[in-house]
Amino acid sequence: MNPRIDAWAGKRVWIIGASTGIGAATGQLLLELGARVAFSARSADKLQALVLGAARALALPLDVTDRASVGAACAELLAAWNGIDLVLVAAGGYQAMRADQLDLDAADQLIDLNLRGAFNCLDAVLPVLLAQGQGGVGIVASVAGYGGLPNALVYGPTKAALINLSEALYLDLRPRGLAVYQINPGFVDTPLTANNAFPMPALMRPEDAALEIVAGIEGGQFQIHFPRRFTNALRLARLLPYRLYFWLVHKVTGL
Ligand SMILES: NC(=O)c1ccc[n+]([C@@H]2O[C@H](COP(=O)([O-])OP(=O)(O)OC[C@H]3O[C@@H](n4cnc5c(N)ncnc54)[C@H](OP(=O)(O)O)[C@@H]3O)[C@@H](O)[C@H]2O)c1
Repeated sequence: MNPRIDAWAGKRVWIIGASTGIGAATGQLLLELGARVAFSARSADKLQALVLGAARALALPLDVTDRASVGAACAELLAAWNGIDLVLVAAGGYQAMRADQLDLDAADQLIDLNLRGAFNCLDAVLPVLLAQGQGGVGIVASVAGYGGLPNALVYGPTKAALINLSEALYLDLRPRGLAVYQINPGFVDTPLTANNAFPMPALMRPEDAALEIVAGIEGGQFQIHFPRRFTNALRLARLLPYRLYFWLVHKVTGL
């Protein structure tokens, strides 16, 4: 559904949300594969540590909720590399919330980060990619966006919106020569999941998530989801009639 990528040498990759977890591991893997990688997030110290000694790496601190800081980082990247071949929007956060605990301030913050943040990134990079007529953009959503889940009162809708967004992007951008990737991880062992008090089925290491993402992009996939034994079950559950879906979710989660 997207062009295949045979070699990463010289490719200019911008990973937004790359100081830890899935974004950091994907950036490190792509560096090893020969790409030029710009690492972005808020924690400048962590970004500096990641690029230390890596001639092909850049640290571009930014806050995705601050449109101006995303624009400034994009300008810095373009000044250094004169173009972008791939942007991965991985910045995101999670806060468990159920309907009897709705905290509107926390909900607003999560929506700003997970959803508005993605639009701030697109606002910066889409004009560049469209003018180039080549390159790609990947949105890290989540299997939590496939269907409603307990404890995902706000996180789930932001990720469902990102899934929808990536579909709309594909329809609009693929005919313009750009690649679009929808990336839906299952559980990955990162700071984002570190406080989960429940058992996480098929939990993966970030390094393995990075391998899946890079293999999916190399293969030209649109929807990149992993680990399959977990994500395929969720994709099937999504097809069930609601009565069965709700019964299954209650039974499996105990919530
Ligand atoms: N881990 C999982 O099980 C899992 C499953 C499905 C989907 N995902 C998604 O995968 C993505 C990466 O998550 P992760 O698990 O790798 O968690 P993580 O290690 O906590 O990574 C989140 C990244 O986003 C950055 N970030 C947070 N707020 C930001 C802001 N305002 N501006 C810029 N960057 C910001 C963080 O860096 P700073 O704090 O330095 O800014 C960090 O680099 C998220 O979108 C998450 O929803 C994760």
